[in-house]
Amino acid sequence: MAYKHFEAIEKHAGLLGILIAIMVSIGGLAEITPLFMEAHAVKAPPGVKPYDALRLAGKDIYVREGCYLCHSQMIRALRAETQRYGHFSEAEESVYDRPFQWGSKRTGPDLARVGGKYSDQWQRLHLMNPRQVVPVSNMPGYPWLAEKKLDVADIQARMRTLRTLGDPYSDADIAAAPAALDGKTEMDALIAYLQGLGIRNEPVAAAKTAGAAP
Ligand code: HEC
Repeated sequence: MAYKHFEAIEKHAGLLGILIAIMVSIGGLAEITPLFMEAHAVKAPPGVKPYDALRLAGKDIYVREGCYLCHSQMIRALRAETQRYGHFSEAEESVYDRPFQWGSKRTGPDLARVGGKYSDQWQRLHLMNPRQVVPVSNMPGYPWLAEKKLDVADIQARMRTLRTLGDPYSDADIAAAPAALDGKTEMDALIAYLQGLGIRNEPVAAAKTAGAAP
């Protein structure tokens, strides 16, 4: 008996299409809805803190200057990548990245764990003119960042906005933000941001690397 119904459906492409769409929608909703319901599907691990004021300003400069167009921040779980860059990236490390900077375009190397790899001075020379430290580099220089002072006016508003999204900034953090940026250049902020990449989660990542699968 039942196969007659199937036959009817299979002979009507339109009906078949509608029923497929309904089934796919039910499946999709079952997977997606719980993620919307749970505001923080991914929790920050103990070592991961929201960006301090200077690094937050640096992150915005990183986005503004389009560094992500040549640099990913997503180490894949492949041996060639973990040997070169360190422990593969995990979603929980990016909970405070809005927008996230994972990317896949790699004209330059991945930067997810570049923090502490070079000195501040190396980063400064490199950003002024990459060919001072890497003669074959085709990365553009960003010398104007060293001349522009940070815009201190809106950092508190940005931190308050991030707090409404769940970042645990305290009133004291927000009150202290303008002083942390005072007199600093955009270059200083960008270097602070770069030097923090991958560092926040170091103990967790290092512990995992020890026993990580290849
Ligand atoms: C046109 C592509 C391009 C853009 C845009 C670009 N880079 Fe690069 N970057 C490279 C290349 C290629 C290298 C490798 C050669 C070198 O070290 O200069 C590199 C290297 C780096 C390194 C050293 C990484 C390592 O592990 O050795 C850092 C840090 C870096 N870039 C930061 C930045 C920042 C910050 C910006 C934005 C202000 C930026 N890059 C924009 C192409 C780019």
